[in-house]
Amino acid sequence: MTQSKKTGVIGFPVDHSISPIIHNHWIKENNIDAVNYEKINIDPEHFEKEVCALIESGISGLNVTVPLKELAFSFAKELTDVSKQTGAVNTLTFKKGTVCGDNTDVIGFQRSLDQKVVDHNIHNKNCLVLGAGGAARAVVCAIHNLGGRVYICNRTLEKAEQIQRFLQTESEVVDQKDLGDVVGEMQFIVNTTSLGLGNTNNTMINFTKVDQGAFVYDLIYNPKLTNFLSDAQKRNIQYQNGIKMLVEQAAESFNIWHNVLPKNSDLLMNKLEGL
Ligand code: ATR
Repeated sequence: MTQSKKTGVIGFPVDHSISPIIHNHWIKENNIDAVNYEKINIDPEHFEKEVCALIESGISGLNVTVPLKELAFSFAKELTDVSKQTGAVNTLTFKKGTVCGDNTDVIGFQRSLDQKVVDHNIHNKNCLVLGAGGAARAVVCAIHNLGGRVYICNRTLEKAEQIQRFLQTESEVVDQKDLGDVVGEMQFIVNTTSLGLGNTNNTMINFTKVDQGAFVYDLIYNPKLTNFLSDAQKRNIQYQNGIKMLVEQAAESFNIWHNVLPKNSDLLMNKLEGL
């Protein structure tokens, strides 16, 4: 008899994660033979020991969130091309005695975008990525895949240069002090920094200089409307938050583990919007 599948999300801390709501909704909706998807705190200092204990307990898949994506990358025995490209793993799969690492953030970001935005604001257009952490790597790869010209700006310039070297995709680094001079030429602007979480404000962009046909994206989904997005809104610039990307990357992980690509239904989106 086969055992019900056990999946979950690891992070440190992981308490804020809403991934269980998404995965458990799909487990039920698709009648998957799986137990409740859980949140598990993993201390980065004891990553290997604690993940090995989860494998022993019969876990078959784990999503990985901040700050463990690079550790998961080193831990995986087999890596997909996209996880190698980003240097980060957000999906671990344990089967046949091996550990597979994948990164579904890239496809998640791509699928979160309307085709109109891809055509009008990304393809052959100037795209500005704010930040140079793990999330920025996935976004840079996705924009590159969609044919955009990537500009990276980060508080710590060296980290932007590091990404540029590591990803080996064509991109330019913008010094934060020069942002005002170039922002008017950008058609797609993405915030991947943590500015906007909690009580912090993101003031990196002066929106009076932004082209009104540009599209603004904030990876943050809680709060739904960061000050970054409300500044864009005040100027009638189109925008979106990170909730769709969260759902799309989850769908791809779900597909890897259960062989079902779940539908992004209104029922689920309403559930998440209501949180
Ligand atoms: P993630 O994996 O979610 O991208 P991360 O790797 O911790 O998280 O990256 C956080 C990003 O937010 C970084 O680009 C960071 O800038 P630095 O590289 O200079 O640290 C950015 N960030 C965090 N706090 C910031 C602040 N107060 N001002 C500007 N950028 C900030």
